[in-house]
Amino acid sequence: MLGVYKMAKKLKAASRPEDEAGRQYHIGLKPGDVPRYVLLPGDPGRVPKIASFWDEARKISEHREYVTYVGKYMGVDIASTSTGIGGPAAAIAIEELLRVGADTFIRVGTTGGLRKELGIGDLIISTGAVRLDGTSRTYIDLGYPAVANYEVVLALIDAADTLGVRYHVGLTASSDSFYVGQGRPGFKGYIPDSMVNIHKKLASVNVLNFEMEAATLFTLANIYGVRASAVCAVIANRVTEEFVPEAGVKEAIKVANEAVKILHDWDTVKDKEGMKWLTPSLISEVKEHLKKH
Ligand code: URA
Repeated sequence: MLGVYKMAKKLKAASRPEDEAGRQYHIGLKPGDVPRYVLLPGDPGRVPKIASFWDEARKISEHREYVTYVGKYMGVDIASTSTGIGGPAAAIAIEELLRVGADTFIRVGTTGGLRKELGIGDLIISTGAVRLDGTSRTYIDLGYPAVANYEVVLALIDAADTLGVRYHVGLTASSDSFYVGQGRPGFKGYIPDSMVNIHKKLASVNVLNFEMEAATLFTLANIYGVRASAVCAVIANRVTEEFVPEAGVKEAIKVANEAVKILHDWDTVKDKEGMKWLTPSLISEVKEHLKKH
C-alpha cells in the first residue's frame, strides 16, 4: 500500500489534533493530500469501487472508518474518503478534509425512499436536508438551512441525464438513527411517540428520502462556505417495503464521478472568465468550448 500514513506518537495539542506536518488525527491526511473535489460514501468498502472508475487511483490512508483514495477521473484530480455512518462520524471527516484542502463534496450514499414512485435502484439528488440529526445542532440552531449548493446539484442532474439513469431531485431527511429515528420499530417494537410514522409525515410534506449524513454535510458546508450535495441510491422503499441492499449503487457512483468532471469544466471557465457564479449562459459556453476541443 503506497503512502498509508502512520500517525506521530504525539500531536500538536488536545484542541488541535494533528501532527507536525498537519496530518489530521482521524483521516490521516495532511494539507495537499487531496484535491478540491472529494466524494463521500459512508461505507469504506465503497471507496475502492468509486476509484475503480478512475483513470488512475491509489489508496493513501486508512484509519478506523476513514479510507481515502486519490486519483484522476477523465484527467481531473479527485479523491474519495469514507465518512462512516451518521452525522458524528461524517462531521469529523468533513472538518478534517476542509483543513487539508477540499472544498467541494458529493455524498455518494444509499437511502430509503419515502414515496411509492421512488423505485428501487433510482437515484435521489438532494437540494436540501431536514435536520433530524444531532450533530448539525451542535454547530448551529435549527433555523439555519441545510441547503445543497446549486452548482453541485446542477452538475449531478447533468451527469444523471447524460448517463441516462432514473433520478429524482428534492428534499432529503437525515437522522442519526437508522431504526427508530426513521420510524422503524426498535427492539421489541419500541418506538417513541415522536417517531411513530415520521417517514409518512415527511413524505406528506414532499420529503423524498431518509438517510443519515446529508444534513450534517450541508450544514457544515454552508457554515464554512464550501459546496456540497448528495446523490443516493434508493435501496429501500418505505411504502412498498422492498429492500435491495446494492440497487443503484453503481449508478450513483458513476453519476458522482461524472459530476466532478462537469464541475471541473464549469469551474475552469468560471475562473477564466473571472465569474463567481455559474449561470445558464456560462454552461452553454462550456458546452461549445468542449465541442471544439
Ligand atoms: N439508509 C438509510 O439511512 N435508510 C434507509 O432506509 C436505507 C439506507
